[in-house]
Amino acid sequence: MKRDEFSGFFGVLVATVGSAVGLGNLWRFPYLVGQNGGAAFILIYLAFVLIICMPIIVSEFIIGRRTQANTVKAFQILAPGTPWSLVGVMGVIAALAILAFYTVVGGWTFDYLVRSVMYIFSKPDVTSLEQQFTQMVTSPVRPIVWTVLFMGVNAFIVMCGIKKGIEKYSRIMMPVLFLMVLILVARSLTLEGASAGLQFLFKPDFSKINTKVVLAALGQAFFSLSLGMGCLITYGSYIPKNENLNKLAFTTGISDTLFAVLAGLAIMPAVFAFGVSPEEGPGLVFIVLPRIFAQIPLGNVFAVLFFAILLIAAITSVISLMEVVTAYVTERFKMKRKVAVALISVFVTVCASFSSLSQGVLAHVKIFGKSIFDFFDHLSANILLPLGGFFIVIFMGWYLKKEVVYDEYTNKGTLKGTLFSMSYFILRYVAPVAIAAVFLDLILR
Ligand code: TRP
Repeated sequence: MKRDEFSGFFGVLVATVGSAVGLGNLWRFPYLVGQNGGAAFILIYLAFVLIICMPIIVSEFIIGRRTQANTVKAFQILAPGTPWSLVGVMGVIAALAILAFYTVVGGWTFDYLVRSVMYIFSKPDVTSLEQQFTQMVTSPVRPIVWTVLFMGVNAFIVMCGIKKGIEKYSRIMMPVLFLMVLILVARSLTLEGASAGLQFLFKPDFSKINTKVVLAALGQAFFSLSLGMGCLITYGSYIPKNENLNKLAFTTGISDTLFAVLAGLAIMPAVFAFGVSPEEGPGLVFIVLPRIFAQIPLGNVFAVLFFAILLIAAITSVISLMEVVTAYVTERFKMKRKVAVALISVFVTVCASFSSLSQGVLAHVKIFGKSIFDFFDHLSANILLPLGGFFIVIFMGWYLKKEVVYDEYTNKGTLKGTLFSMSYFILRYVAPVAIAAVFLDLILR
C-alpha cells in the first residue's frame, strides 16, 4: 500500500503551521515577552527564528522526506548500524512527555470554553476567578474528564490518517483560527489605553538584553516551531517529493512568528489597558484574561472566542505530537493505525491523569524536586528538545554526506536560489554552538 502523504504545498503548510501554532504562541510567548522586557526580546527571537531555526526546520524535513519513515526508522535508514536512531527514540519519548502535560492544559481550555459559553465570567469578581481556576485544576476528577474528552477529539483526527485526518481538519481549523485571532486583536487594540501595550511590544529597550533574555528567546523559538524531537521529521516524511522544502520551512517559520506577534497584540494591549502586570506568568490566560472579559461589553462573546482559539491551537499541536508516536508504533510493530492511536491515547491519558492529580491530591509526590506536571514540562522543553535539536544539526552538518543534503535541499539540483551554502554553514557551525549554549544554561541553572 502506498504511504499516506499530504496533498501539496498548502496541505503541508496548514499541518506544520498547525503544529507550530499552539499554547506556545498564545500563552508562553506573550508571558515570556512580558518577563523579558518586551520588544528587545521579540527582536532577538526573530533573529533566532530566521538565522538558526529555518535551517533546522529544513533539516528535519529533509531527514523525513528522504527516508519516508518515522523518526526512529529515518535515522536507521540514513545511518544504519549506528546509535543515531536513539535520537529518534528520544523524540518519541519527548512527544509522550509533552503530551503528558500539554493535554492537561488542553483539558483546562475545554473546561474554560464551556464555562464561557455558560456565561460564568460575567461577574467581575477577581478573587472568585482565581478561586475558580485553583479549584478546577486541583479537583481530582473534573480536569481529568475534560482531558479525556480533549484526547478523544485528537485521537479521532489522528485515526483518520494524514490526508483525511490531520490535513483535512487543519485545513478547516487554521483559517478559522487566523480569522478569530484577528477579531480579538481588533478588539484589544481599540480598548482605551491600548497604546501602552503596543509600546511594550514594539519599542525596544536594549538595556534589558542580557544572556538570560537571549537564551529564553532561543528556547522559545525551538518550542514554538515544534523543533528538536522529530515532529517535523515525521511530517516531512509525508511531504511529496516535488515540494520546495526551503520555501515550506520559511513560510512555516514566518507564519508561526506572525501568530505569536498577533497573540501578543491580542493580549498585551488588554493587559496594559487594565493595569495588570505583564509578568503575571502562567495565570495570565486563565485568571487575568477572564477578569478583563468580565469588564468589557460583550465580554462573554470574546471569552468564548478566546478559549475557542486556544482550544483549536492546542488540538492542531497535539495531533502532530501524537503522529510522531503513531507513525513509529504502526511502522515498528506493523499495527493498524486505529489500534495504535487507541493504545497511545490510553497511555497518554493515564500519564496526563497523574500530571493533573499532581496539581491537587498528588502535590506531595516529587520527581527530582518537581511535581509530576512540572517534571514532564521540564524534561521535554528544557532537556529533550535542545538535546534532540543539537544532535539533529550535528547529524545534518557533520554525519550526512553533503551531497545527500544538497540533493533534498534543492530537489536534485532543480531548485535555484535556495541559499544552500549559507544554510549549510549555519548547520555546521552556528547552530550547534548556539544550542549548546542554551542547553548548558538550562541545565546549569
Ligand atoms: N509548537 C507547539 C506550540 O507552540 C507545541 C508543539 C507541538 C511542540 N509539537 C511540538 C513543541 C514538538 C516541541 C516539539 O504550542
